[in-house]
Amino acid sequence: MPLRRRLLVLISLVLAACLLIGGVLTYWTGLRKIELEMSSAIEVGDSAIGDALSAISTSGDPAAQLRRTVRSFDGDRHVIASWIAPDGSLKDISRLRKPADPPPGWLYWLLAGKILTHEFTLPAPYQKFGRIEVVADPHNEIGEVWEDLKLKLIIISSFCGVVLALIYASLGHALKPLEDLSSALNRVGEGDYTAHVAEQGPEDLNLIYRAFNRMAGQLRSAEEQNQRLNEQLSTVQEEERSEIARDLHDEIGPFLFAADVDAQSIPILLSRGSNEDVESRAKAIRQSVQHMQLHLRGILSRLRPAMLIDQGLTHAVEHLVAFWRSRRPSITFDADIEDARFPARVEETAFRILQEGTSNAVRHGNPTTIGLTARRIAPGILRVVVSDDGSGIGETAKRGFGLAGMKERVAALNGELHVASQENEKGVRLIADIPVPAEPNKKTDETTRTTSAA
Ligand SMILES: Nc1ncnc2c1ncn2[C@@H]1O[C@H](COP(=O)(O)OP(=O)(O)OP(=O)(O)O)[C@@H](O)[C@H]1O
Ligand SMILES: [Mg+2]
Repeated sequence: MPLRRRLLVLISLVLAACLLIGGVLTYWTGLRKIELEMSSAIEVGDSAIGDALSAISTSGDPAAQLRRTVRSFDGDRHVIASWIAPDGSLKDISRLRKPADPPPGWLYWLLAGKILTHEFTLPAPYQKFGRIEVVADPHNEIGEVWEDLKLKLIIISSFCGVVLALIYASLGHALKPLEDLSSALNRVGEGDYTAHVAEQGPEDLNLIYRAFNRMAGQLRSAEEQNQRLNEQLSTVQEEERSEIARDLHDEIGPFLFAADVDAQSIPILLSRGSNEDVESRAKAIRQSVQHMQLHLRGILSRLRPAMLIDQGLTHAVEHLVAFWRSRRPSITFDADIEDARFPARVEETAFRILQEGTSNAVRHGNPTTIGLTARRIAPGILRVVVSDDGSGIGETAKRGFGLAGMKERVAALNGELHVASQENEKGVRLIADIPVPAEPNKKTDETTRTTSAA
């Protein structure tokens, strides 16, 4: 059952219970009131009849006096007086005043109670005329209770109606944003993170809407970042592929061709008997092969730095520095790498940070000096730092793949990475603190290395 209807049913039940309690109280007080009224009415009737009978005299017509006594009760609201002959037949009876609003039978049945009657035997000389009887009739009194009850019922039911209508309307107004929230949640469930709920209505619900909007915002930016990372990833992969293709074409292709030409010429030279030339061609082929091996290693080390790291972080960084020195001779590279072995994941992460940090400094900072450090600052922490004296990270710097990737790598090893433009100096300082397990599991490390080198 919807919340709104459930609340209304609950409130209606409470109101109905109040109504029931009110009804019981009204009944009880009505009963008491009727009892009191009837007993006092019959007392009044008693004394009136007593007075009238003591005044009967033989001088007048006793029958007429009796009739007058009975008729004196005509129009009474509570008492009916009757004159009953000795044979039980009714000689005369007073007329009760008709209730303005006769009560329904069920109410009469509920409230009437015991009917009070009183008989008067006539004084001795008049006993042949029979007797007088007074009866307390509650119709008028119950009629009053009925009128009172109807008025109360009308007031209470209009009050309940107004209260329920107000609650219905205000619940509808208050719960409207919940409907918006539910449809917004559905949209998020279907992958539409642009869903938004207006922050309005009661404060406690507002907290939920605010939390929802924040969540949708986070999902939206995570999705955007994912998309951007994917695009960058495919761009980087594309760039890498075309660079490798270019290298293979430009560096390996000509030497393969040269080696092929030299190899083809050897049978001809042999048939001519010019052994010296054969020797020089064989040397040329070896040189071509050595050149190709060198380039091939360069390409492979770009594809798989693990091969480089296999020989230690110091060795890998030397390669890295040599790579950049040859391309950016104007930049001074200062490397200070601890000559020790660390677990494979630590070494690879450290190398990736040094590699991307240096690449960022060269690409974005235009520095004159780049420093690369990897040293333990405590037995269990390897601190990797890349600093440069370039332009520093501008406020408008776009979010790329490199910094995010470095952060992820370091976080995966429970480490921390800080990037900051240096305050007093120029440039950027990239600091990564990587936890080093106390006793690296050599077997695992070796397995990892072998796997990644394969
Ligand atoms: N050493 C630095 N000097 C100046 N700006 C830097 C430096 N390092 C990073 N930045 C700024 O921070 C931005 C984000 O760097 P990040 O490495 O994440 O991405 P990127 O280098 O632009 O692209 P890629 O995804 O290819 O790495 C850069 O675009 C650059 O503006
Ligand atoms: Mg980068």
